[in-house]
Amino acid sequence: MKTIQFFDTSLRDGEQTPGVNFNTAEKVRIAKQLESYGIDALEAGFPITSPGDFEAVSEIAKAVDKMTVVGLARCRKKDIDAAYEALKHANHPQIHVFLATSEIHMKYKLHMSEEEVLASIKEHVAYAKSLFENVQFSPEDATRTEKEFLVKAIQTAVDAGATIINVPDTVGYSNPTEYGELFQYITSNCQNIDNVIFSCHCHNDLGMATANALAAIENGAGRVEGTINGIGERAGNTAIEEVALALHIRQDFYQAKTNIILEKTKMTSDLISRLSGIPIHKTKPIIGGNAFAHESGIHQDGVLKHPDTYEIMTPQLIGLKTNHLPLGKLSGSHAFGQKLIELGYTNLTPEEQQILFDEFKVLADKKKNILDRDIHALVAGNTISTSQSLELKNLQLQFTSNGQQAAVIEIETAENDQLSDSATGLGSIQAIYNTINRIMDKDVQLDAFRIESLTSGKDAQAEVHVEVSDPETQESVHGVGIDFDILTASAKAYLNAFSKLREGEKRD
Ligand code: KIV
Ligand code: ZN
Repeated sequence: MKTIQFFDTSLRDGEQTPGVNFNTAEKVRIAKQLESYGIDALEAGFPITSPGDFEAVSEIAKAVDKMTVVGLARCRKKDIDAAYEALKHANHPQIHVFLATSEIHMKYKLHMSEEEVLASIKEHVAYAKSLFENVQFSPEDATRTEKEFLVKAIQTAVDAGATIINVPDTVGYSNPTEYGELFQYITSNCQNIDNVIFSCHCHNDLGMATANALAAIENGAGRVEGTINGIGERAGNTAIEEVALALHIRQDFYQAKTNIILEKTKMTSDLISRLSGIPIHKTKPIIGGNAFAHESGIHQDGVLKHPDTYEIMTPQLIGLKTNHLPLGKLSGSHAFGQKLIELGYTNLTPEEQQILFDEFKVLADKKKNILDRDIHALVAGNTISTSQSLELKNLQLQFTSNGQQAAVIEIETAENDQLSDSATGLGSIQAIYNTINRIMDKDVQLDAFRIESLTSGKDAQAEVHVEVSDPETQESVHGVGIDFDILTASAKAYLNAFSKLREGEKRD
């Protein structure tokens, strides 16, 4: 039985999804979750690209323990130096150097000849190797690269010290047969690769990213790159949870094991969905709302007689518990602490637990049964509020069914400034958002607004997602807010987005 490693790039390729921007605290929270999910290596960012990316890679390097932390770099010394600096506190650092090798990229993007590309790979992989024990090289657009040249590029990287070779299907062009054969071709034509790990990296433009990754595994790949929920530019990347479950359910075929803790799939997926603002489609494999629902009478009858008739996996396998014991306002801190552990929050500090318990008590006064989804939302809400620089202190609304609504809002900044103002609007949300714009003295644009109820019932908590852009800088950010009251949740989401714009301005 071979072991397949997972390399998660949710914070790098995943963050390239339009509108997705995690702040540093959110990235650290996600990194810890990915570590507890059993991810082997995490691409934490591209340190040279911005001070924010550098800071996030560096904070993640300090926060995680056993997971490898990876920084991306072009074939440039300053990129490699930045990755080295950002990763200097990591227990297990790794660099990921890339350079395009397809004719179309070399000619139109890089303006480099084949010889120049090979020379650059040799020079920069060797330089990376002088700073890192583990060096990964990716020939970008590998699947559209002329095969003989691809082998030359990979051989150059291996000879210069690369220990991991990643074969990206950058534009999601390949199919399982071709991609599998490419791994065969590379591994039978490259020399001195006994200690080299081959890795696959697929984009989902033609809907084949998971199938391509599995084909690579069948043909010698020891590592899969991907993202949680398949987030990423365009149609996204390989969804890690899909490959992990496929390897588990079809272990008879793939003869492979992984380090993934499958029971943490759902909570990991929920965290990424919540913080990225990208909802999960109901029919998405493994994690979609309908993934375990049986509608047809024949299927229902079969499942009742024997679940295996129509179920190849159980909801419990991915951590979707069906019979949860709700907490209520009489539950004490011990029961609450036990619930946190049961839900997988095993690495919270006593201070964090106390803050969450206080918030739980406030919620329990308003909501009779506190369900697991409420607890997950409390933990996520806490990460969001402690990581943002603007806090909603008070919101007052005057509503009339016929005319202008009015809002008065007080905000506290991370610098302890108390700001307040009032404004009107044709609806309550408009009044709230006009007021926040006045307080912040900035007319940002609301591009998208989505509201969800976390559980069923009139007393369900609301989760609001907004996409906001700054017309001056064109920067677009996502914000999320969770609250028992939908208007408060809406205000929190907008402030969360404003905080991100503010953090960006401070860094620039
Ligand atoms: O898709 C791609 O080619 C990439 C590289 C940086 C590996 O993301
Ligand atoms: Zn990619």
